[in-house]
Amino acid sequence: MTFSVFTGLTPQAPDSLLSLIGLYRRDPRPEKIDLGVGVFRDNLGATPVLAAVKAAEQALLNTQATKSYLGPEGDIGFLDLLKPVIFGDQVSHEVFGVQTPGGTGAIRLACELLKAAKPDLRVFIGAPTWPNHTQILDQLGIETVTFRHYDQRAQRLGFDEMMSVLETARAGDAVLLHGCCHNPSGADYSLDQWRAIAELVARKGLTPLIDLAYQGLGLGLEADAAGGRLVLAAADDGLLAYSCDKNFGLYRERVGALYTLSRDAETLDLAASNIRALARTNWSMPPDHGAATVRVILESEALTAIWKSELDAMRRRVADLRQRLATAVPALAPLAGQHGLFGLLPLSSAQVARLREEHGIYMAGSGRINLAGLTVGNIDTFARAFEACLQGEPA
Ligand SMILES: Cc1ncc(COP(=O)(O)O)c(C=O)c1O
Repeated sequence: MTFSVFTGLTPQAPDSLLSLIGLYRRDPRPEKIDLGVGVFRDNLGATPVLAAVKAAEQALLNTQATKSYLGPEGDIGFLDLLKPVIFGDQVSHEVFGVQTPGGTGAIRLACELLKAAKPDLRVFIGAPTWPNHTQILDQLGIETVTFRHYDQRAQRLGFDEMMSVLETARAGDAVLLHGCCHNPSGADYSLDQWRAIAELVARKGLTPLIDLAYQGLGLGLEADAAGGRLVLAAADDGLLAYSCDKNFGLYRERVGALYTLSRDAETLDLAASNIRALARTNWSMPPDHGAATVRVILESEALTAIWKSELDAMRRRVADLRQRLATAVPALAPLAGQHGLFGLLPLSSAQVARLREEHGIYMAGSGRINLAGLTVGNIDTFARAFEACLQGEPA
């Protein structure tokens, strides 16, 4: 190898979930099943553009007069209209929002802000979690303290363990919580558990960072936001990273927002000035199209009603598949009490590989499945393959 500045780099493993897409595409078996990447699919396996989105895009095409820059905060109408959807009509805190490239951009910005505010802070985080959470925190050199969110083998939430680990947090530490539809486990907190978390967060002086990436895909728009609202209301300051990519089906448009909350207007101004500066050096201005599409939907009562009914149909489809699978496979009964697109099956990595090699069933190496990849037509095939795999080799 000749000398290059790049030879000093450490090779990075490709994202395993994205590699799975390539493997699936190359598999010639017609009966193959893709439960990998976390996008909604209909009963035909498609991820269609929502009718509300198509109509809003058409309106934008007809009326948009300029492509000039938006400013570092992005589309203010989008941020204002989304706010009551997330927080309800009454918010006890001062709130500052910025538009971000996807929920990922919002989480990145939130973590950069926390690091700048308190370089020695620790972020408490459940395991397993969406892998990008840990990757972002590690890349920023933020210390993490892990609690077990979910016991994969027992298929049970680790609530008591989480609470005892959080008791060791110090004032100024942060806790990263999935607002709903936990990725990868689907195991969410009950309202009583959220209340207990809120009490602890307030008592300890912690900063909650709520990641709300699937609002409306679990129990419904209001119920999915309820836990995060309780915790944020109890804290002095907090952050909420939002994604519209799943609930508006806008994945590739990269639509997200970061909302920062504080009881004190001056503190919020200070945070806002830092957020603007961080956004400026990251992406300068966020992309327009997806957020403008969401704004047009939320500006119109008719389009909002169409979006809500489409979202409800998506939610009902995944909930129905959950019930069907939990009934078809007694060993997967806990799926019935969980929410959203994902389930974390009690499988070893060898069993995940066997399902792929012997049955053409593709899922993340962790055993996470995207339930929306199932159809009424293939769910029994999946159930039989899963049971055969469990009998062949216990997890
Ligand atoms: C828990 C969680 N948070 C955030 C995101 C980020 O979503 P986006 O595609 O909007 O960046 C995802 C995406 O998979 C997710 O699962």
